[in-house]
Amino acid sequence: MKGLILSGGKGTRLRPLTYTSAKQLVPVANKPVLFYAIESIVEAGITDIGIIVGDTKAEIRAAVGDGSRFGATVTYIEQSAPLGLAHAVMIAEDFLQDSPFVMYLGDNLIAGGIRGLVDEFRALGCQSEILLAEVENPEQFGVAELTADGKVRRLVEKPKEPQSNLALVGVYMFDHHIFESVRRIKPSGRGELEITDAIQDLIDRGLDVHPHIVRGWWKDTGKLDDMLEANRIILESFDSQSGAALGSIGEGSRIEGRVQVGEGVVLIDSLVRGPVVIGDGARIENAFVGPYTSIGERCRLACCEVENSIILADSEIRDIPMRIDGSLIGRNVKITKTDFKPKAYRFMLGDNSEVGIT
Ligand code: DAU
Repeated sequence: MKGLILSGGKGTRLRPLTYTSAKQLVPVANKPVLFYAIESIVEAGITDIGIIVGDTKAEIRAAVGDGSRFGATVTYIEQSAPLGLAHAVMIAEDFLQDSPFVMYLGDNLIAGGIRGLVDEFRALGCQSEILLAEVENPEQFGVAELTADGKVRRLVEKPKEPQSNLALVGVYMFDHHIFESVRRIKPSGRGELEITDAIQDLIDRGLDVHPHIVRGWWKDTGKLDDMLEANRIILESFDSQSGAALGSIGEGSRIEGRVQVGEGVVLIDSLVRGPVVIGDGARIENAFVGPYTSIGERCRLACCEVENSIILADSEIRDIPMRIDGSLIGRNVKITKTDFKPKAYRFMLGDNSEVGIT
């Protein structure tokens, strides 16, 4: 089997971060979301992986390389524009040839890996296996309607009036029949060739599409709240009391619970209460880092309190009187107190930034 990861697209819901960075490279627990996808495909025994890339191809290539660090061989497939998930399958045909494949959306995270699912697909010998999960907001996903005996009756992409609460999860398995279906469908209302429509075409042609209902957690990390939740879930799964020895825990500092501390981290007069991950070279002074926080490499925190947040590499937070909570802070951001007059908030924010002040 081969793997196909979709890492093109625009990432509008994570702006402003995605103006300068691919949404699939935003880290969860200090690891890019995309890496979780690659790792779980490799863990399922699939090492020949194609990655669909768009405008952010240089950055994705720089992060993933030739795949050898994951034990895989990666082939990059350029998509001229985000014309839809089925379009991505169409342009990957030369790479996939007639091999069955697992397609993984590069912004999705699924608990427990996909090995069992891949094995099930192989054993069933069906033309496609799709994963479904119960959600509270089905109108934001592809939605499946099942028959009384559990077969797929109908799939609709982001329906205004969903007929069920079963959303399509961003992991799909196909054999070569999908290529004919992606050629038969027409662009949807949003101008994309939808994989949902292509799978419906398989069903309409009487081919076997097996639905598997996922009971564990699953996240489409396209939005802030989903990123933070994914971060909480992954940090929660940390089981070790850290590589604390890697950094220097100075006098007056305390680590409580599950905390992973990177190389060269300096902690001075601070309390870190896990689950927390702190990237290499970070410096934390006179600060409180509370549960469910991921601090990127080389960040500098002083005289501040942060929890339930993701802070990307090289950012600085200093002298902030209120605790920072539920925040996603990009690379190289500075949040500091100034003594300029007049006494006022001073912002320099990118387009589509969000600031909440009490
Ligand atoms: O997350 C699950 C949902 O993913 C499914 O329930 C939907 O049926 C499916 O259409 C998809 O919906 P989204 O609107 O969330 O897809 P999005 O545009 O975010 O794209 C998913 C990934 O695929 C993302 O990593 C970007 C990449 N992509 C997207 C398009 C449209 C490409 O590589 N090329 C593309 O043309």
